[in-house]
Order: sequence, then structure tokens, then C-alpha cells
Amino acid sequence: MSFLELARERYSVRAYSDKPVEQEKIDLILEAAQVAPTAVNYQPQMVYVLKSEAALAKINRLCRCIYGAPLVFLICSDESKTWKSQSEPGYTTGEMDCSIVCTHMMLEAWELGLGSVWVRLFDSRAIAEAFNLPAHIRPICLLPVGYAAEGSIPYAPWHDVYRPVESFTKEL
Ligand SMILES: Cc1cc2nc3c(=O)[nH]c(=O)nc-3n(C[C@H](O)[C@H](O)[C@H](O)COP(=O)(O)O)c2cc1C
Repeated sequence: MSFLELARERYSVRAYSDKPVEQEKIDLILEAAQVAPTAVNYQPQMVYVLKSEAALAKINRLCRCIYGAPLVFLICSDESKTWKSQSEPGYTTGEMDCSIVCTHMMLEAWELGLGSVWVRLFDSRAIAEAFNLPAHIRPICLLPVGYAAEGSIPYAPWHDVYRPVESFTKEL
């Protein structure tokens, strides 16, 4: 499958089967996170793997978008490692770095026959507190992952409604 075919085929899975994700597949998804590009290759991502009953119960209490996934990645930015702008005080690339890490993971999961959904509907302070994260670790997004439930289809009718390329590009 070409990259564009994979990108077009993928959709956000919002219903999962109970089947656990094999450790080899978890390792490959983490390898995809490892090789993502980051600013100056500082690699500030910190990825927490939530799959124990206790961790899943906790994340389900904190976020209503887990959709029964048996595995959730909590992708955080280690602000002690991020690239920091000299000219724009306070600006770091942590969120962008974690976004491309999460994108790699999401697409690798799909290639492995797994569904996922990118999630940002949570209170990052509540997550940091519940999982005892150090102050320099900033939760950026969640990626619930698992085998799609039987009959799973894109939930959003607008899933494959895309703006024409000309509407968001301009030659300068
Ligand atoms: C930054 C970001 C945040 C998102 N947050 C959520 C979320 O909190 N809950 C959810 O169910 N989906 C979330 N999504 C998934 C989008 O709704 C979904 O990708 C979009 O509707 C397109 O549908 P598709 O992924 O099926 O193509 C998020 C996606 C992105 C990129």
C-alpha cells in the first residue's frame, strides 16, 4: 500500500474489541515514535503505555474518549528537553514534536491492522496529577489503540469530506 493509500484508508476508530494488542506490535508502534523527526532531533517525547487494569480505569475516569481501547498511549512533552526559542520567550516546540510522534504512531498502528484515535479532550493538569507526572512532563495527547470492533466504520460522516487542495494552497 502506498503512503497516500494508507493515509486515505485510516480513520479514527471509536469502538474496540477486547483482544489485547500483542507486545511485538506495541514495540513497533514505539519504534515509530522513536524515529519521528523532532526539532534539532532533541526527542523530547515521553510516551507512557497504559494497559494495566488500574491505569486503564484511571484514564477512563479522566477522559471520555477512550472508547473501550485495551491500550492507550499518553504522549507527553518533556519540557526540560524541548527546543526553546531565543527570540520568542516561552515558545517551545514540545507540542509540535509530540504531534509528529503521535502521527507516526497512529499510521504505524494502522499498517499493523490496528485502529486508533487521536484524543485531546482531557484536562492535562488532572492527568499529570493522577499519574504523578513530574512538573516538566506536559501531557499533549492520548492515543487509544486496539483492534476495531466488528462492523466498525468511520463515526464521523465528514471523515472523508476534504477541502479542495486549491482552497488551502496559494503560490506566493
Ligand atoms: C488534535 C486532534 C485532537 C482530537 N481530539 C479528539 C478527541 O478528543 N476525541 C475524539 O473522539 N476524536 C478526536 N480527534 C479525532 C478527530 O475528530 C478526527 O481525526 C477527525 O474528525 C477526522 O476523522 P478521521 O480521523 O476519522 O479521518 C482529534 C484529532 C486531532 C488531530
